[in-house]
Amino acid sequence: MKDTGEASVAGDPRLFDMRLRRSHDDLFGMLARLYGHRPDYAAFRDALDAALRAAWAARPDALKWHDLERDLEPDWFQRPDMAGYVFYADRFAGDFRGVAERIDYLKDLGITYVHIMPCLHPRPGDSDGGYSVMDYRSTDPRLGSMADLQALAAALRSHGMSLCIDLVLNHTAREHDWAARARAGEARYRDYYHVFDDETEPRAFDRTLVEVFPDTAPGNFTFDADLNAWVWTTFNTHQWDLNWANPWVFLEMTEVMLYLANQGVDVLRFDAVAFMWKRMGTRCQSEPEVHMILHALRAASRIVAPAVIHLHEAIVGPAEMIPYLGQGEHSGKEGNLAYHNSLMVQVWSALASRDARMMAHVLDTHFPPVLPNATYATYLRCHDDIGWAVTDEDAAASGLSGQGHRAFLSEFYEGRFPGSFARGALFQVNEATGDRRISGTCASLAGLEQALALNDPGLADMAVARILMGHALIASFGGIPLVYMGDEIALLNDWHYIDTPAHAHDSRWLHRPEMDWPAAAEAQAGGDGPAARVWHGLRHILARRAATPALHAQYPTLICRPDDPALFAFRRAAPAAPLLCVFNVADSWRVLPEDWAAAQGVTAFRCALADAPVTPQDGKLHLPPYAALWLA
Ligand code: GLC
Repeated sequence: MKDTGEASVAGDPRLFDMRLRRSHDDLFGMLARLYGHRPDYAAFRDALDAALRAAWAARPDALKWHDLERDLEPDWFQRPDMAGYVFYADRFAGDFRGVAERIDYLKDLGITYVHIMPCLHPRPGDSDGGYSVMDYRSTDPRLGSMADLQALAAALRSHGMSLCIDLVLNHTAREHDWAARARAGEARYRDYYHVFDDETEPRAFDRTLVEVFPDTAPGNFTFDADLNAWVWTTFNTHQWDLNWANPWVFLEMTEVMLYLANQGVDVLRFDAVAFMWKRMGTRCQSEPEVHMILHALRAASRIVAPAVIHLHEAIVGPAEMIPYLGQGEHSGKEGNLAYHNSLMVQVWSALASRDARMMAHVLDTHFPPVLPNATYATYLRCHDDIGWAVTDEDAAASGLSGQGHRAFLSEFYEGRFPGSFARGALFQVNEATGDRRISGTCASLAGLEQALALNDPGLADMAVARILMGHALIASFGGIPLVYMGDEIALLNDWHYIDTPAHAHDSRWLHRPEMDWPAAAEAQAGGDGPAARVWHGLRHILARRAATPALHAQYPTLICRPDDPALFAFRRAAPAAPLLCVFNVADSWRVLPEDWAAAQGVTAFRCALADAPVTPQDGKLHLPPYAALWLA
């Protein structure tokens, strides 16, 4: 496609120098503050400079050309034609080659961004769904080789699609070479981890730490007999936390990051970033140094591989999340994307309580209307459980008890609360805090499993309406909406997960089913079954999103407060053509006064989602259960 002339423009070394100048202070300014006090700082800085140059030299011409394109179109990931699909390669299509064969399916749905769940070389046996990585420079052999991944990235790129993969920054598998060398007694590698000769410090840290997997992996430290010491393991005992206070860890991981960028990856999902810095007397989450490290990593990508953006996985409380998209000195310079966990939690909470007031309060209070050079990854379900991240303060502001409401949500989505439409399972019950997280697929949590079990078409209609309303909401809020594999055809919970020994202890496998291709083909063919209605409905939502300029992430999202508690609304303040998005979270008809909508700046009623006019009656818009309107 490109002649030699073009390739040499993109590969001109002066571009590297210009980009280094552009981001020099962002990188070395942060690093000097993190590591400048160390006697080996100058050696580290030189080694990092050499690593950046080596990575640039190794970057293929086609990707350097891609860098130029994206330097010219820095808003590419904020545009309304972006829509993501998230899946385990083996469960979706067997392996990387199988995924390439399914590109047409994804295109048909309207997908432009593909997130393959952890696909780097995992430890054998239980690998926490691939998040326990023993080699970052090779792929999971069951999925194919690094060359196959590279070929898949190129195939996706040729279809205008971006590839996202996971890079676990917080920990490596115990089987990683660094950990093996630490156990073999190499001091250099022992310093890559948080290792303690006795229990004194671990116990002191423990006083303020929380437990992530209290059921299956209690505690935060593990005694390792080979090491003859305690090692920090926030998650599972086989996941050893890296010591980011050591600059050589920063160097190694930067090299890995750029190596993956050079395979043709567009989006790197940084896993569990909140935990990367430890400080005695704190929860060791979201410490200021975490943001400095992420700022520096972002700068390194901008120097060598500016086509690449960073997605931060920080599943933290609402107020703690925004800094991961850059705040204060990190504004516009940290993550380009971060999961909007609060939005997800609030959607499920509003559906259970048929009341959107707390959702409006939380989104209005804690989230700015617009983010510089960043946006959200919005979603209803992902591969993880749902933790009810509702603070006591936010609950109280909405007249609820935090603890009471969280307990209600767990009971509701487990399916035990009287009148609940959901079928789900508990994940990690924490007796000490009363926390009970929830697993389940979108369709099962939204009521379809129960409706089918009861053979009740009316309930199935309601479930389909909930699923589509939820997706219309995450497709319009601002950010890249992510569809989790199988949700587009309303796959139900996979209760057989317990038959797989490596999965039986982890109920998250309930909502990580295998793709059902016959069901997908049937849904695509049409008909009025729930799967077909969800497929075609979702496809329509994504097509209408792509056709609606006001949904560009650069336009502010302003929360509105309709009088009816069952209605959730926000305005997408595009100067030329603002959009008023309204959602009915209840299972009954509601009305929206015409003059209220007019006061929000919408006068001629046309729904951009239905692509049809809406006619008010008696000065009111009438909204059926779970209606979604994008009023232009
Ligand atoms: C992230 C992943 C989760 C995993 C954890 C530890 O939260 O999403 O699946 O268990 O990190 O790596």
